[in-house]
Parts: sequence; structure tokens; C-alpha cells
Amino acid sequence: MSARQPLRIGILGSGKGSNCQSIIDAIAQKRLDAEIACVLSDVAEACILARARRHRIPAEFISGAPFKTKLDGEAEQAYIAALRRYGANAVALAGFMRIVKPGLLGAFPGRILNIHPALLPAFPGMESWKQALAYGVKVTGCTVHLVDAGTDTGPIVVQKAVPVLEDDTAETLHARIQVEEHKAYPEALQLLAEGRLAVAGRRVRVT
Ligand code: GAR
Repeated sequence: MSARQPLRIGILGSGKGSNCQSIIDAIAQKRLDAEIACVLSDVAEACILARARRHRIPAEFISGAPFKTKLDGEAEQAYIAALRRYGANAVALAGFMRIVKPGLLGAFPGRILNIHPALLPAFPGMESWKQALAYGVKVTGCTVHLVDAGTDTGPIVVQKAVPVLEDDTAETLHARIQVEEHKAYPEALQLLAEGRLAVAGRRVRVT
């Protein structure tokens, strides 16, 4: 018997929540041994909140104001308080469109993951599938990484490659990347649940 605490994930997202759905599905299908403690969003009308409520998962809008692109100050404290109140012991950023700062990082050290729609370190930042298409790469993909103080710079846990097709549009390419995201995120979270991520500097070894 392992004395390890069950993984209780707080999911933060700003948008449609398809990655949140993939985590919900993976838990239901027993591919991911975890519970979702809560879903928090900085966008009151975000679909991710409605999705969570449909599955009877606690879901809250918490404003990120006065900042637009980062989670800091009183807003950051409100997120930390909510995550603690719902008993989260890990955080999954799932389309959360804010940079997280040292306060949240320090509250969940080594236990915050992010999904990014490119093969990092290529194309960090926003709308990476558009960046990849414009650059003309033949292969892109998605990355699940541990979050550190940089933007999309943390140690890489799982990556999946996606070919860029000649007739791809931004929409078709993003849709194919998302198919892989929905496999990658539950896989990475399961490694965290099993306590199998050993981080040495930039490198993550699966034990
Ligand atoms: C996903 O493609 C995710 O990789 C991306 O936002 C989308 C959210 O989709 N995240 C970023 O670009 C973070 N920089 P979802 O709301 O359907 O999960």
C-alpha cells in the first residue's frame, strides 16, 4: 500500500475546456487515478465552467483583475485560497491565459502542470499553432511541462508530435494538435499521480 496522497487536481482554464474534458474522461475511464478538486476560471462565461458544473465538479469564476495577462496580487491569493479550500494538491493549467507568478508556484511547488500547443521550446506564447504554420515547420505538436517562473519554460514531461499538412489552416492544425493534447495531459497527470516524475535541473526522468 502506498502512503501517497491521492492526486486532487485544481484545473485553471479560460476557454472551452476540451483539455478539462479529457481529464474528466480519463478519470471516468480509469486511465487517470485522480480526482478533480475544482475548476477555476478568470472568464465568467467560459465553457470550461459549464462543463465542470455538468459533471458536478465545483466550478468558480475568480476575477484576475486588475491584471490582464498575469495572475498576481489579490487575485492570485484568491486562487490559492480557493484551491486550498477545495483540497487541491496539484494544479493543471488547461488553456489558462495568464502567466502564473511565484505566489502560486510556491503554494504548489513542483505540482503545477501546463499544456502548450507546440513542441517547446519552439513557439512559446500565444496561438502557437499559428506561429508554427506561419514559420513553415513540417512537424509541430503539444507539450505538457512543469510550470516555472518563465513563460512556457518549465521542465518537459510529455510531448506528442503532429505533422503539418500542406493544406492545413490554423483551425485544422489546432484541431489535430488538440487530439494529441487530450492524450498527453492525462498521461502526464498519471505520472504525477504515481509519483514517477524525478526532476533534475531541466530534465524530467520517469522513474
Ligand atoms: C489548448 O490548445 C492549449 O494548449 C492552449 O489553449 C488551448 C485550450 O483549449 N494553451 C495555451 O495556448 C497556453 N499558452 P481548451 O480550452 O479546449 O482546453
